[in-house]
Amino acid sequence: MINHIGTNSIETIRLILRRFRVDDAEDMYRNWASDIETLKFLSWGPHSDIEVTQRRILSWINRYDEPSVYNWAIYLKSIKQVIGSISVEIASDKDKSCEIGYCIGKEYWGREIVLEALRAVMHYLSCEVGYEKIIAKHDVMNKASGRVMQKAGMEYEKTIYNAGYRRNGSLYDVDVYVKKMMA
Ligand SMILES: CC(C)(COP(=O)(O)OP(=O)(O)OC[C@H]1O[C@@H](n2cnc3c(N)ncnc32)[C@H](O)[C@@H]1OP(=O)(O)O)[C@@H](O)C(=O)NCCC(=O)NCCS
Repeated sequence: MINHIGTNSIETIRLILRRFRVDDAEDMYRNWASDIETLKFLSWGPHSDIEVTQRRILSWINRYDEPSVYNWAIYLKSIKQVIGSISVEIASDKDKSCEIGYCIGKEYWGREIVLEALRAVMHYLSCEVGYEKIIAKHDVMNKASGRVMQKAGMEYEKTIYNAGYRRNGSLYDVDVYVKKMMA
């Protein structure tokens, strides 16, 4: 059975995964929301100014009352900044499955930070919430994201061809990875 508990804080060695706060806008804008390279494979483009980021965060905060919302800010303890996010994007309680998305600013790439966050979130969603199947998808060109999924113990399931359009108008394929969690 799925037991929704909402977005509670999770602490790992280097990170605190916690709810977004209004005053995270500056970190979010600077560390990832304004950077075109970081957002290259995401559906949304760089924010034109910090007010856009503030509005986005407010819309997330307004949804935290819903116990089925899982949307964490990735706070890096060593620098006391929010450097990215990790969230459940789509879920099916009937199938006990959910899909995770993540992003951190490029200054922090290559240090297995998302891997640390993903492992912790997968554990939470399986052990605390009851999901049995965790899914993640990436644009086939986004090899680094695929590596994170592999290192997190997820297994390649399939490629979906012509899955959507990138922001530049080109068609893209996605690789689908799945991790079946112990019941
Ligand atoms: C994708 C992303 C999460 C990776 O995070 P990260 O913290 O840099 O991940 P890691 O430190 O574990 O390193 C990524 C791995 O990919 C590899 N990699 C990086 N670029 C690569 C490339 N172009 N081709 C192949 N492998 C690549 C690295 O060598 C590393 O693998 P290794 O540990 O076996 O050497 C991060 O780049 C990010 O947030 N990007 C922006 C948002 C995004 O694309 N989100 C995913 C949407 S599906």
